[in-house]
Amino acid sequence: MYRRNSLLLVCLAFLAPVLACTTDDDCSLNGICKNNTTTTTTTTICHCDPGWTGPDCGRLDLAPATRWTGYNHTNYTDPAYYGVHGNSSWGGRIVQDRDDLKLFHLLVDQFSHGCGLGGWRPTSFIARAESRNGPQGPYEWVQNVTSSFRHNADVLWSPADGKYLLWAIGATVDDPKTCKSIPGTQSKAKLRFPNNISVSAAPSIRGPWAPFHVAVNGTNPAPWLLGSPDGKTSQIALAVEDFKIFTAPRWSGAFTRVGEDVAWNTTDYSPSWTEDPFLWRDKRGNWHALAHWMIDIVEKDGAKYPRVGAHMFSRQLEGGWAFKVQEAFSSTVEFTDGAAETFNRRERAKIFFGEDMTPLYLVSGVQAKGAKSSFTLVQPIGERWREYEKNLGF
Ligand SMILES: *[C@@H]1O[C@H](CO)[C@@H](O)[C@H](O)[C@H]1NC(C)=O
Ligand SMILES: *[C@@H]1O[C@H](CO)[C@@H](O)[C@H](O)[C@H]1NC(C)=O
Ligand SMILES: *[C@@H]1O[C@H](CO)[C@@H](O)[C@H](O)[C@H]1NC(C)=O
Ligand SMILES: *[C@@H]1O[C@H](CO)[C@@H](O)[C@H](O)[C@H]1NC(C)=O
Ligand SMILES: *[C@@H]1O[C@H](CO)[C@@H](O)[C@H](O)[C@H]1NC(C)=O
Ligand SMILES: *[C@@H]1O[C@H](CO)[C@@H](O)[C@H](O)[C@H]1NC(C)=O
Ligand SMILES: *[C@@H]1O[C@H](CO)[C@@H](O)[C@H](O)[C@H]1NC(C)=O
Ligand SMILES: *[C@@H]1O[C@H](CO)[C@@H](O)[C@H](O)[C@H]1NC(C)=O
Ligand SMILES: *[C@@H]1O[C@H](CO)[C@@H](O)[C@H](O)[C@H]1NC(C)=O
Repeated sequence: MYRRNSLLLVCLAFLAPVLACTTDDDCSLNGICKNNTTTTTTTTICHCDPGWTGPDCGRLDLAPATRWTGYNHTNYTDPAYYGVHGNSSWGGRIVQDRDDLKLFHLLVDQFSHGCGLGGWRPTSFIARAESRNGPQGPYEWVQNVTSSFRHNADVLWSPADGKYLLWAIGATVDDPKTCKSIPGTQSKAKLRFPNNISVSAAPSIRGPWAPFHVAVNGTNPAPWLLGSPDGKTSQIALAVEDFKIFTAPRWSGAFTRVGEDVAWNTTDYSPSWTEDPFLWRDKRGNWHALAHWMIDIVEKDGAKYPRVGAHMFSRQLEGGWAFKVQEAFSSTVEFTDGAAETFNRRERAKIFFGEDMTPLYLVSGVQAKGAKSSFTLVQPIGERWREYEKNLGF
């Protein structure tokens, strides 16, 4: 069954440059299917929204990144650290300050004591960093938001609640004494270091944060406000691992599963195996997600690169999700100095959007080939970010 699909995809990919679309779904809901006005015939083609590219608008239109932006403190040293990986980190969410529009915050998953990505459980905690250099950074550490073990952080402003909502996995544990990782397969470890999703809230991005409480016994939180953009309702949508979708009347309420299992095979080692969804609703009201696609682990004997990004889309939150098993972005990053680097890992993709929901920046956790340290990369998308930065005076 799958084989047939891949064959079909190969054919589609081959035909793609001349393939006409029928509906906006053929444009990944990232564009409009309409007549090619430069020709007198009646072929229809995808007109992609800013930030998306490709014949089916299924690929992020990434622009070159600038070295030493984002949150790269892998060269930091502290004599008290057990490890040599500096302040390694693994992705985060950019938040524009609500009062000081030229100030950007990054809520980031950081590893303590100089430990690298391998020691993520239990050393991960959530930190807040700031940039006065614009949304690309560089961001500097300003505050610990949590202690260990908290990971997979995401944060949203809920206008209806007048609060920032902070989602993460983990539990509060004693400060780790080594960088040694705790395997997830040990049931005792699972109880002490659960990957369950918890939520906290604060009136300001600087805190104080309410105690976390478990929202869903699952992992990989991808929250989005379900309410109207005018902020009249507090309803929350939460996608988790394997694309299970939950909703709750408000952040502190009970989450219930909505919809059915998605149509694609979510089983580990299947070609449509993904993790860590990132969910959003676009300007037309359609739903989208990016996720870490693990195809190279399946097809290239455990390799984690370069095909790392998947895009899913749906007209409704509860069902009808489509996943064209193809690359939405890769682990190869072009830099403004003209060089390109293919990272060993690139995960935890999150988008920072402009007011009209145009994607402006992609934030991801990256690890160079041969490295054990990791950092948080911010890469501009398309062209609109230039205008966004210029309007802010950067
Ligand atoms: C494309 O143009 C033809 C002829 O003008 C028209 O019949 C058709 O509805 C158009 N299709 C779309 C999707 O705009
Ligand atoms: C639109 O039509 C023109 C003229 O036939 C053609 O050159 C161009 O490639 C078409 N655009 C796309 C994206 O197919
Ligand atoms: C990140 O930091 C390391 C030093 O720890 C450096 O080698 C690397 O070039 C930096 N990468 C980027 C993209 O800033
Ligand atoms: C890390 O590298 C950056 C960029 O080269 C440099 O500005 C900074 O001083 C370095 N920090 C340490 C602790 O070596
Ligand atoms: C590294 O992280 C620690 C918090 O654990 C912080 O005190 C320190 O300022 C950070 N340094 C840099 C360069 O990010
Ligand atoms: C930040 O939290 C980490 C993890 O709990 C801890 O190791 C570090 O000492 C803290 N740093 C500061 C400055 O509070
Ligand atoms: C998580 O599982 C525990 C133990 O089975 C249960 O007591 C708790 O109610 C569950 N929490 C949620 C939010 O489902
Ligand atoms: C985490 O979820 C598991 C079920 O998946 C449950 O057994 C456990 O009690 C939960 N832990 C906490 C702290 O809620
Ligand atoms: C899903 O993928 C797994 C792993 O490749 C495979 O064993 C299983 O047969 C697949 N299931 C379906 C329904 O295709």
